[in-house]
Amino acid sequence: MAAISTRLYLLFGILLVPSLAAAQSRAFGGVPPAYARYLVDAAAMPAVELYDYIVVGGGTAGCPLAATLAGPGGGRVLLLERGGAPSEFPALATAGGFVRTLAMADPAPESDAPAQGFTSEDGVPNVRARVLGGGTAINAGFYSRAHPEWFRGRAEVQDGEVTNWDMRLVNASYEWVERQMTFQPTVRGFQAAMRAALLEANVTPWNGFTVDHVTGTKVGATTFDASGRRHSAADLLAFARPSRLRVAIRATVTRIITNPIDPSARHGRSPQPTIAAVGVVYQDRLLDQHQALLRPGGEVILSAGAMGSPQLLLLSGIGPASDLSYLGIPVSADIPDVGKHMFDNPRNGISIIPSVPVDHSLIQVVGIPSANGAASYLEAASYIVPLAPALRSSGPFIGSSSPLFVTVATIMEKVPGPLSEGSLWLSSSNPLESPPLRFNYLSRPEDLARCVLGVRRVAEVLEGRALDGFRSAVGSTNRRGAVRRDFRIVGAALPVDWRTNDRALADYCQQTVATLWHYHGGCVAGKVVDRDFRVIGARALRVVDASTFSETPGTNPQATVLMMGRYMGLKMIEERHSRRPVIPS
Ligand SMILES: Cc1cc2nc3c(=O)[nH]c(=O)nc-3n(C[C@H](O)[C@H](O)[C@H](O)COP(=O)(O)OP(=O)(O)OC[C@H]3O[C@@H](n4cnc5c(N)ncnc54)[C@H](O)[C@@H]3O)c2cc1C
Ligand SMILES: *[C@@H]1O[C@H](CO)[C@@H](O)[C@H](O)[C@H]1NC(C)=O
Repeated sequence: MAAISTRLYLLFGILLVPSLAAAQSRAFGGVPPAYARYLVDAAAMPAVELYDYIVVGGGTAGCPLAATLAGPGGGRVLLLERGGAPSEFPALATAGGFVRTLAMADPAPESDAPAQGFTSEDGVPNVRARVLGGGTAINAGFYSRAHPEWFRGRAEVQDGEVTNWDMRLVNASYEWVERQMTFQPTVRGFQAAMRAALLEANVTPWNGFTVDHVTGTKVGATTFDASGRRHSAADLLAFARPSRLRVAIRATVTRIITNPIDPSARHGRSPQPTIAAVGVVYQDRLLDQHQALLRPGGEVILSAGAMGSPQLLLLSGIGPASDLSYLGIPVSADIPDVGKHMFDNPRNGISIIPSVPVDHSLIQVVGIPSANGAASYLEAASYIVPLAPALRSSGPFIGSSSPLFVTVATIMEKVPGPLSEGSLWLSSSNPLESPPLRFNYLSRPEDLARCVLGVRRVAEVLEGRALDGFRSAVGSTNRRGAVRRDFRIVGAALPVDWRTNDRALADYCQQTVATLWHYHGGCVAGKVVDRDFRVIGARALRVVDASTFSETPGTNPQATVLMMGRYMGLKMIEERHSRRPVIPS
């Protein structure tokens, strides 16, 4: 029976696959999202199929990449995403659902939650996306382009000259993304106060609304529209030709299938590839295995994110030979840097409970004290969160009128770069489990020094008059003898001598370090992939996502990850048409 339906499928293509549009439409209050027409649950996919492009991971880079490859001039594309569709989870649809989504984050490999929690070996809790749209379906929506130097690559980590960005195509790709899914926010409430506070703390000039990375204080774009609805990378799928794109959800890729290349048939790039990708194996929610195989001239592209892409290479025997042999994984290609050079930007800040209720706001305003990444970036958000039981039973909240929810406003700094790095490794052959990893936050003195200056700047922002309205009713006498009302601080308070005591601020940095979820690396350009994002030593295999970065772009990465998906799609279509038949010499 299965064999027959597979054959029928190959004959009639996508027409036989039951559509999920009906289910999607129920989940979305009657109007199915535009991407619903492409979706199929992996369990309804045939056992074997052929494609020109197989994109692994329907995230921030994977969606625009697949949509572009299945657009004009493209080929037949399969996009494989381990999670479900964003429309199945109402909390994802609005900015207000951000905290709820993170609160629902579930580390369990078998869970369906759209955010998968994990804790790095550093002890810092973190999350990764497990849903179509990837990070863009669960993130804070702030959108801002890379700093211009970012495109030159990072000499400390990469080997040689490894970048090859065509800046005209970069700009055109950013613009394409921006037309489809970004908006100018209306800045009010807490974000407006933050803007005033940054300017008062001399993070100048005021640059108004711009997607560009420029020194000073600015308002960036957002993926939440005027009615507060989220637009994610999944929406970009609508640009594919329906006959060319199939998006399988609840499809977890377990392995890339590779073949050794006969040495006599090797040609082209140096070093010469020794293996060629020929397809992938993926499993559906019933743990049944399926194969997707490449047509001649096709490619497998990993867009599974900074944890997923290196993990899949390792599971496929592409990585450090000694580690793989130790784990009993047959080595296909010895690439020592797979899973190495993992970075996460340390985030530190101060959270307060404002005395007056403030609006819920995700990041809209950012401070860029120096555009070349020498100083920490400043960002802020205000969340309405359930009151922690500890607070509920103490202080001003005692009594029957205790509010169940409270606003927490947080002002944070993020160390750009960073230089501190760690690695990711396998502890299990189950691709549903997050691999263990360590970032070694603030282990490099340069990063710690920038954190000290960054936290000091956060303290200065809080000191200004602009945030006075959020101070509590309780006052204290400052050094000059004037009474100033305090902030109600949540969590750690700054050392009292923060102005002068670097050592105390460094301790504060180390004790309160958290993540802004901008982790990257693991398949770094110049080490694991070449300047065209091809896996070094492999044919028909690329990596296109944040795992190729040795530095995070701009204040926040999603703009550049989305751009990269579009950009590489256009590049690969160009190559498809300029490809000449290879004449063996
Ligand atoms: C909570 C949070 C808030 C953030 N806020 C912002 C913000 O406001 N602004 C900003 O610019 N950036 C923000 N970011 C960062 C940004 O979202 C990420 O850097 C970016 O989305 C990474 O894109 P990616 O394509 O590399 O990976 P992802 O978008 O994570 O895509 C990877 C996809 O691959 C899938 N996958 C993984 N393994 C497999 C497998 N084996 N088989 C099939 N599928 C697989 C995953 O389920 C996922 O959908 C935030 C991130 C988080 C988590
Ligand atoms: C790309 O856009 C930036 C502004 O975002 C501009 O400064 C730059 O000159 C543009 N580059 C090209 C090659 O068009």
